[in-house]
Amino acid sequence: MGCELSKLATPKAQNQTTTEPNATTEANPTTDPRLPLTAKQKYTVMASWKAISRELVATGVFMLMRLFEEHEELIQMFSRFLDSKSKEECGQQFDMVELKKHAEKVMAALDESIKGLDDMDVFLTCLHQVGATHTKIPGFNGQYFWKIEQPFLQAVQQTLQDRYSENVESIYKITIKFIIETLIEGFNKAQNNKAQSTAANS
Ligand code: HEM
Repeated sequence: MGCELSKLATPKAQNQTTTEPNATTEANPTTDPRLPLTAKQKYTVMASWKAISRELVATGVFMLMRLFEEHEELIQMFSRFLDSKSKEECGQQFDMVELKKHAEKVMAALDESIKGLDDMDVFLTCLHQVGATHTKIPGFNGQYFWKIEQPFLQAVQQTLQDRYSENVESIYKITIKFIIETLIEGFNKAQNNKAQSTAANS
């Protein structure tokens, strides 16, 4: 799944053709007060992410494998990985083809959001949307998003190798925390909307 950032960005770009100057943007062209990163940190994460972007699926598969190793109880939620013939044929715990497909979707969403760090409206809309899609998953709880924090950091380290310096690590820690908080916000909003419309219809 993609957030289709380019589509989301278009109306904003049109709005910005007004003569009203944006004070925040003019004072500091590279940071948005909603972003918990300095301009330099944002640059570092976006620059180092290019290496992850080239290894998106491998990084995603590593991340999901770590997630399932650390939180076996979550595997049952991924029925697609479990109920398949190829899994049984290969004697694997889950279907690697499906796992890869899923890794692609998750990493595509992360890729779009990190590449969208320059535009907070796009970044937030994208991750709110992804968070909201998880309300369709039976038994999913918004707090489960935190379970991806360590696997994500381990996967980034695995891909970046010696480029994963202490400085880069500290920036990724802030970034994934911000991503997870945004996903949870989107999940909670969507769940509240669902609850309200159910109440209104009953
Ligand atoms: C960085 C955090 C995460 C991102 C960006 C993310 C993203 C996504 C995306 C893009 C989809 C596909 C949605 C669709 O096709 O409509 C998805 C599905 C799903 N996600 Fe996540 N996800 C994240 C974390 C998690 C975590 C921690 C769990 C574990 C409990 C989880 C469980 C699921 C499940 C069960 C599905 C449905 C899989 C299926 O197709 O059967 N997600 N996620």
